[in-house]
Amino acid sequence: MCAIMKVAPSAPLLFFDSGVGGLSILAPARAALPNAPIVYAADSAGFPYGTKSEAEIAARVPALLGRLVERFRPRLAVIACNTASTIALSAVRAALDIPVVGTVPAIKPAALLSKSRVFGVLGTDATVRQPYVDRLTAEFGADCTVLRHGSAALVQLAEAKLRGEPLDPAIARDALAGLLGQPGGDHMDTVVLACTHFPLVEAELAAAAPRPLAFVHGGDGIARRIAYLTQGQEWPASRPSGKAVFTRLDNSVAALAPALADFGLTQMEAL
Ligand code: DGL
Repeated sequence: MCAIMKVAPSAPLLFFDSGVGGLSILAPARAALPNAPIVYAADSAGFPYGTKSEAEIAARVPALLGRLVERFRPRLAVIACNTASTIALSAVRAALDIPVVGTVPAIKPAALLSKSRVFGVLGTDATVRQPYVDRLTAEFGADCTVLRHGSAALVQLAEAKLRGEPLDPAIARDALAGLLGQPGGDHMDTVVLACTHFPLVEAELAAAAPRPLAFVHGGDGIARRIAYLTQGQEWPASRPSGKAVFTRLDNSVAALAPALADFGLTQMEAL
């Protein structure tokens, strides 16, 4: 039904995350749909999500998405955040009357890829303890040893990288050590980047790894899903400039401007 709904060509795709992580989801979507108008919303006032409780996320995310949809009238919303999706996806879907695409840990592709049958799930502390992850693991990784580790420091590393700050290599090393040091970690061959910030520091993770590891995340699958849900809809004739919206504008947000421009987000405003 969604695919045949008449939407204005100017109706944007809305991407939502606590910070810059959702850019790892935006990038493949922009490649698939180059002329899509984009609103990228970051809850800078609520960042970080990964150290918050389920109750805090569940109270915050649906209300914020509601305000964003009212203001920008998107054709579709993408929760480009594993923490928000694994906790609040169904509440957001119930609250909105547009299609909502969630971002959940890429456990299925990792289980298909892992030859050793040991893979890791590297996410935020909040994500790795979710029943949603238990369910994905039971459904797709039942014959695997699935190690989990949460890293708040790696989220900060990705934000620092996009602000152009110098990076401490110990952070990526420690995050991987949290998986490799667990029983079975010696055989781990694949790591699910189960926080959208982490693909932004994949190069740092690969450089810190003591041996080659395959890193997987859901960005390409989400781009395909967005293309499917919007097929038959009209887009502007040329690529419009994208907009980044923040729940708080401060100096650390201002420092992101050059990186945001690399993702086509040349306008910045406060919600
Ligand atoms: N990027 C988010 C995720 O995918 C959350 C990062 C955070 O705010 O802690 O989980």
